[in-house]
Amino acid sequence: MCGIVGYTGSDPAGPVLLAGLRRLEYRGYDSAGVAILDGSRMAVRKKAGRVKALEESLGELPAIGSCGISHTRWATHGPANDRNAHPHVGGTGEGTVAVVHNGVIENHAALRQDLEAAGVVFRSQTDTEVIAHLIAVELGDGDDLYEAVQRVLPKLEGTYGLAVVSPRCPGQIVGARLGSPLVVGLGDNEHLLASDPAAIAPHTARVAYLQDDEVVRLTPTDFEIRHRERGSITPRIDRIDWSPVASELGNHAHYMQKEIHEQPETVRDACRGRLRRGEGTAAFGGLNMTPRQLRRVRRVVLVACGTSWHAALVGEYLIERLANLPVEVEYAGEFRYRNAPLDDRTLVFVLSQSGETADTLGALRESKRRGHPTLAICNVVGSTIAREADGGIYLHAGPEVGVASTKAFSAQVAVLTLLALHLGRLRQLSFTDGLAVVEALEKVPEALTRVLATELKIIEAAERLSQARSVMYLGRDLHFPVALEGALKLKEISYIHAEGYPTAEMKHGPLALIDPETPSVFVAPRGSLHSKTLSNIEEVRARMGPVIAVGTDGDEELAALADFFLPIPDVLEVVQPLLAVVPLQLLAYHVARIKGCDIDKPRNLAKSVTVE
Ligand code: AGP
Repeated sequence: MCGIVGYTGSDPAGPVLLAGLRRLEYRGYDSAGVAILDGSRMAVRKKAGRVKALEESLGELPAIGSCGISHTRWATHGPANDRNAHPHVGGTGEGTVAVVHNGVIENHAALRQDLEAAGVVFRSQTDTEVIAHLIAVELGDGDDLYEAVQRVLPKLEGTYGLAVVSPRCPGQIVGARLGSPLVVGLGDNEHLLASDPAAIAPHTARVAYLQDDEVVRLTPTDFEIRHRERGSITPRIDRIDWSPVASELGNHAHYMQKEIHEQPETVRDACRGRLRRGEGTAAFGGLNMTPRQLRRVRRVVLVACGTSWHAALVGEYLIERLANLPVEVEYAGEFRYRNAPLDDRTLVFVLSQSGETADTLGALRESKRRGHPTLAICNVVGSTIAREADGGIYLHAGPEVGVASTKAFSAQVAVLTLLALHLGRLRQLSFTDGLAVVEALEKVPEALTRVLATELKIIEAAERLSQARSVMYLGRDLHFPVALEGALKLKEISYIHAEGYPTAEMKHGPLALIDPETPSVFVAPRGSLHSKTLSNIEEVRARMGPVIAVGTDGDEELAALADFFLPIPDVLEVVQPLLAVVPLQLLAYHVARIKGCDIDKPRNLAKSVTVE
C-alpha cells in the first residue's frame, strides 16, 4: 500500500525521507515523490517506478531543506506515471501547498467539478490533488496551515492519512488521519510522521499513533494534536519494539527467504509464555474475557483476508476438533456487508498480520457496531485493528517485510492451535489430550528446522514446477487450507496460475485439467485420511499428471507414487499444518527465483491493503 514519511528537524530532509521510503518499499508501490521546504521555496520531485528513480532525480537536481514530506504510491485513481505520483500541489507562489495522501476520497469527482468551475486547473487524474487545491484555497494569504487543513477535512468523504507542507509555514508539517494509519516519531529536536513505524524506527523508538479524526502539527521542537470534536489531545507515547536490525535482510537473498527460515523462532515466540504444561492447556494475557465468558461461547467466527483467511481456516478445523465448537470462517470483504446472523453467544475474531487491512478493519467495526465481543489476532503492535479490538492475541513474529506472507501464517496457525487448546480445556478436552498438544507444540521449532534442511530437494521440485502453466494443490481436512495457502504463494510471487482444492473434490471436475503439463501438489502427511489420498493420487497418475507430495518422513507408499516426495517429520496431526506449509512456501519461493520474479515486491500487490 502507499507509504508516507515526513521529517522536520536540523538534518537535510532529503536523505531522511528517501531512507524512510526505502524501508517502506516492501509495502508495494509504483511511483514515489518528495516535497522539501527551503525557506520561502519548495522543491517537488516525483517519479514513476522505484524509489531509486526518485533518488537519481534528486541527485541530478538536489532539493535543499530540513523539512519535507514524501510518498510511495500504489495506484488507486489514475495510472502509475510522474504526473499522478504524489506529492500533489495546489495554490501558487508562497501559498503553494503540497500534499501526500493514503486512502481514497470517495467524493473527489464532485469536489473537482466545483474547483474547476472556480477556475482551478488540475494536473493529474488523482483524487488526492483535490485536497491540495482545497487547502490552498483555505490557506489563501494566511499562514496557518494547521487551521486551513482542519477547515478542509469536513469536506472530504472517504479515508485519508495526510501530510501537508507549504512555504508559507517553514519547518511545519501538518498531518491528519481518518481510516489510514499515521504515526508521529518523537526525536531530539526533530519530529517525523509516517504511515508505518518501520519507516522511522532508526530515528526514534518513541511514537504517538494518531487516531481517526485527529490532526497534528509538527515543528522541529514541538508538536500538537487536536481531535475534530474533542479539541486538544495529550497522546499516549508508545515505544516501538522493532529493532531496525530485525527488519534487515541478513545473509538472505530476499526477505521472503529470511522470513521462511525464521519460522522455528516464530513459532517459539508465538508460544512463549503461553503454554501451561501443568494444566495441559494454553493461556493468554489479552483476551479480556473470563473463563466463564468463554465457556458461554457457542460459536466462533473467524474473519480475515488472503493468507490470514487460510490460517483462519486451519483454525476452524483445530477449534472444532479440540473444543467441539462450531466455527465459521468469513472473508472480511464479504462479512462486513453480508449482515451475517450472529447471536449473543458468538465470539468474533479478526486476523490480520498488518492490523491495517481495510476490509478486516471494516469487519471489526461492523461486528463491534452490532455489539459483539470482537477480538483480534495481529502482528503489528499498536496497529489500528489491534487498538480497536476488545482484546486479542499478538503474534510476536517481528516485522514481516516480504509481500507474500509466510512467518505470519505460521504464527497465526500456532496462536490458533493455542486458542483451540485453551477453548477445548475449558470444555471436554482431557488433561492428557491437552498435554499432548502442548508437547507437540514444544517440538515444532526443532521439527521445522529439519524441514528447512530439505531445501535442496525442494529446489529440484521447483525446477520442474517452474515450467508449468497451471498447478493444482490438494489437501484433506487440516491440509485443505494448507493447499490453498500453497497455491496462493505460488501465484502471488511466480505468477503461475494455481488452485487449491479439497483432495476429494478432484473427481468432481478439476481432474479434467490433469495432463502431463499440469502438476498436482498433494499435502498428505500420515493421518486418518491417508489411504483415501493415496487413491486420489493414483487417479492423477493414471492420467499422466506429475505429482509432488508433501508427506511424513519414511512414508514409502506415498513416496513411490510421487515424482517428488517432500518429507516432514512425524508429528501430532494437529500441528502438521505448521510443518506441511513450509515445503510449499519454499517451492513457491524457488519457482519465483528460477523465473527471475520480483519476490519481495510482486507486481500489482501490496503488503498491507489499506483500501477496499
Ligand atoms: C498473502 O501472502 C498476501 N500478502 C495477502 O493475501 C495478505 O495475507 C492479506 O492481504 C491480508 O493481510 P493482513 O494479514 O495484513 O490483514
